[in-house]
Amino acid sequence: MINVAFVCLGNICRSPVAELVFKNMTEERGLAHSFRISSFGTSDCEEGSDIYPPAKRTLIIHGIAGNHKARQISLQDVINNDYILVMDSDNLLDLLRLTGGEFGEKIYKLCSFTESPRDVADPWYTRDFEKAYADIEEGCRAFLEYLLKEKSAAFSYDKRH
Ligand code: 4NP
Repeated sequence: MINVAFVCLGNICRSPVAELVFKNMTEERGLAHSFRISSFGTSDCEEGSDIYPPAKRTLIIHGIAGNHKARQISLQDVINNDYILVMDSDNLLDLLRLTGGEFGEKIYKLCSFTESPRDVADPWYTRDFEKAYADIEEGCRAFLEYLLKEKSAAFSYDKRH
C-alpha cells in the first residue's frame, strides 16, 4: 500500500482536484487497490468546505466528480503518508515549518516529476482553473509513471496479497 497525500494552501482548489484526478488515474489503470489517497491544506482557512465551485466545474468538464471536506494537515498526517505532494514552494516551506525540517525526503512538489518542474499556480488568485487542472493532470501522470518505474516492487507486493 502506498499512502499519498496532496497538499495545497486551502484544500479547496488544487489538492482536492489532484486527489480526485490521481484516484481516477489509478482506477483506470487497475491500481486503486495499491493506494490510499487523500488531500490536505497547510491552512485551516477553509476547514470543512467542499471543493471550490469553479474547481469542481473544471473537474466535471473532465469527467470527474466527488465530494470533499477540507482539512488542515497535522504532523501525524505527514508521518502516516509515504509521499506528500505539494503544489508550490510556499506549501513546501509551510510543511517544513510544521515538521521542524523533518520528513523532507517524502515531500515533493507535484510537478517536480514532470519534464518541466514548476509550481501549480493557485487558481484562487490566477482564476485559471483549466491551467491548474492541466498542470495537476501532468504532475499526477508523471508521478504515477515514476512509481511504476522506480517502485514496481510496491505493486507486485500488493498483487500477492
Ligand atoms: P488552494 O487555493 O490552496 O488551491 O485550495 C486557495 C483556497 C483558498 C484560499 C487560498 C488559496 N483562501 O485564502 O481562502
